[in-house]
Amino acid sequence: MMRSFIVSGLLLGVATAAAVPRSYGHGHHNHTKLNVQVGDRPYYLVNEMDDGPLKEKLESCSEGPFKTSEFVFAHRGASLQFPEHTLEAYNAARRQGAGVIECDVAFTKDKKLVCRHAQCDLHTTTNVLNQTDLASKCTTPFTPATNGTPAAAKCCTSDFTLDEFKSLCGKMDGFNPNATTVTEYMDGTPYFRTDLYATCGTLMAHEEYIELVNGWDLKFTPELKTPEVEMPFDGYTQEQFAQELIDQYKAAGIHPSRVWPQSFLPADIFYWIDKEPEFGVQAVYLDERVDTPEGYANATASIPELAARGVKILAPAMFALTKVDTEGKIVPSEYAIAAKAEGLDLVAWSFERSGWLNEGGGYYYQYVLDVINNDGDMYTVLDVLAQQVKIKAMFSDWPASVTYYANCFGL
Ligand SMILES: *[C@@H]1O[C@H](CO)[C@@H](O)[C@H](O)[C@H]1NC(C)=O
Ligand SMILES: *[C@@H]1O[C@H](CO)[C@@H](O)[C@H](O)[C@H]1NC(C)=O
Ligand SMILES: *[C@@H]1O[C@H](CO)[C@@H](O)[C@H](O)[C@H]1NC(C)=O
Ligand SMILES: *[C@@H]1O[C@H](CO)[C@@H](O)[C@H](O)[C@H]1NC(C)=O
Repeated sequence: MMRSFIVSGLLLGVATAAAVPRSYGHGHHNHTKLNVQVGDRPYYLVNEMDDGPLKEKLESCSEGPFKTSEFVFAHRGASLQFPEHTLEAYNAARRQGAGVIECDVAFTKDKKLVCRHAQCDLHTTTNVLNQTDLASKCTTPFTPATNGTPAAAKCCTSDFTLDEFKSLCGKMDGFNPNATTVTEYMDGTPYFRTDLYATCGTLMAHEEYIELVNGWDLKFTPELKTPEVEMPFDGYTQEQFAQELIDQYKAAGIHPSRVWPQSFLPADIFYWIDKEPEFGVQAVYLDERVDTPEGYANATASIPELAARGVKILAPAMFALTKVDTEGKIVPSEYAIAAKAEGLDLVAWSFERSGWLNEGGGYYYQYVLDVINNDGDMYTVLDVLAQQVKIKAMFSDWPASVTYYANCFGL
């Protein structure tokens, strides 16, 4: 869709933009067989690997066949190269074989549910600052960098109505803190991503995402995003928010077994377990307590208690599920062992979010830093997660890389 069209629609007002429906798929199931494509990247990663049995095994799978796998959770769509949580990103994720597509769920000013990674990321994931009639409605409108003080802006889904939200263009997440103009501020895509597909990503309401993914016969993993405004918001409570997320699947006639609702907040997980047990049984507790050593120890110790409370699936960042043993081998971590001992499933995040591993790999590879040195080691780590930790699924910013592995190993 051409940017000029969107911009001129905006000038005519949001009512016009809303009256021109964007095509986001079809409500019926389409049983035409999908020809899954993994593209060049998995071959590049395999080629980078050190010689050994894993590389040989992965090379033996080079000609496919490739197919959709529920081991592959599309993280924000295919956010390595497509603007996150857009129709274009979800299309790419499906083509790459993701069996489960993620929508992070935030609410608008008129309390409609939309797909955004954070309630307040519109200044870095959309063109809102470039839209004269909307930018002034941001919680914090753009202020340029001045000597020593970085540029600032904060634009939240709750600053805008659904119609206003839908009139925006998705862009690659990023910003330049040194910017003195909006155009400079918006130009901040990390070096290992690309703006090639960021001409004007189509933003999605949660209900549109449900219709789209249902039409594809795929599965759902919506995340109830932790609000960044005080709750209740204009009378809207956290419980209403958690309930409404589930209600939209019920209204669309989606069977609970196709939905993995996620949250970082234990209270949301417990709410679903208590009030919506059919959905709660698949609730995914995103565990960020592991981010500090003391929190990691506490989190590990608390696993029996969580299991007793009805939690079935834990999802810490992938680093927390492995460690390096005294012989320099990557092995399951104490956390992973404790979760398995309680019969819990594990989901890991996020593959392909780190840039070049020869530069370390940052947050996601912090526990294996000493034994990785090339991008092929992404598969070294994934193999331990899949075969030894036995994760149920891996979130990926580029689903194809995980699809290749999953298809090769029959996952
Ligand atoms: C069904 O899916 C196929 C493959 O994605 C696509 O080419 C075709 O246009 C779709 N058919 C309908 C009726 O939407
Ligand atoms: C929006 O971006 C375009 C292209 O970068 C620029 O020419 C225009 O001045 C910007 N508009 C606003 C309101 O910042
Ligand atoms: C911003 O400026 C600082 C200080 O000059 C510099 O170190 C940093 O790399 C700059 N960041 C970007 C994204 O340009
Ligand atoms: C870990 O647990 C101890 C004992 O309950 C508590 O005092 C401490 O605050 C916890 N630390 C973290 C980081 O959760």
